[in-house]
Amino acid sequence: MSQGILRYLSSTIGRKYLMAISGLVWTLFVLTHMLGNLLIFAGSDLYNFYSYKLISNPLIYLAEAGLVLFIGLHATTGISLKLRNMRTKPSLYAVTPKSAKGASLSSKSMIWSGTITLVFLVLHLITFKYGTHYDTTVDGIQMRDIYKLVIECFAQPGYVAWYTFCLILVGLHLYHGVASSFQTLGISHPKFNSAIKGFGWAYSIVVAVGFLAVPFYVFFVKG
Ligand code: HEM
Repeated sequence: MSQGILRYLSSTIGRKYLMAISGLVWTLFVLTHMLGNLLIFAGSDLYNFYSYKLISNPLIYLAEAGLVLFIGLHATTGISLKLRNMRTKPSLYAVTPKSAKGASLSSKSMIWSGTITLVFLVLHLITFKYGTHYDTTVDGIQMRDIYKLVIECFAQPGYVAWYTFCLILVGLHLYHGVASSFQTLGISHPKFNSAIKGFGWAYSIVVAVGFLAVPFYVFFVKG
């Protein structure tokens, strides 16, 4: 990579671009993951078969490496921009203007919702990806019974409460993230700003509610 590109990527605007792009990759991932999870309503065989098809595709390793790379970039650039903000803000303003106060409040909530989402993600992978391996057979093919593990977890109120808390934070993080990444990428115009805001809200509500449908269904309907 040339020196110029490296210098650009480590500049404030370069880091903002990296944050926006890596955030948008994860924004798309969570939508597809949420839609895949809704197959739980179609029953155990289809849910297990979907998971089996996904994890037995060799491209999964590439996708997983991409997700790790993008979340790593997103978290490190987010933290470095936050630290830069903390260092420069007090010297910029003798009295913090109202708009800057609003921005700092929003970025403060982003760093916390982002950190909790990261903790959630690690625990989530330990619970499901690396959790108990039950076996089942669908159409003569032996595969992991991930359905059984999901039902087992969400039969417990502690899991449902933790997922509810985290998915509300994921929704808020997505909402702020979608709006600010559009702005970073130059997709902003006074005419369309309220439409972009509406899109951000709709997207994050659909994702959070779609994810939450699974623990709520398991706990309240199947339990
Ligand atoms: C109620 C909500 C959720 C449920 C029921 C759920 C379910 C699952 C299950 C069962 C797996 C294991 C898939 C397998 O190995 O076959 C998984 C993996 C994963 N989940 Fe979730 N998930 C939820 C929410 C989330 C959220 C909010 C995120 C991101 C913020 C997320 C990110 C991931 C990632 C990155 C993987 C690993 C994918 C891979 O390496 O192939 N999940 N999830």
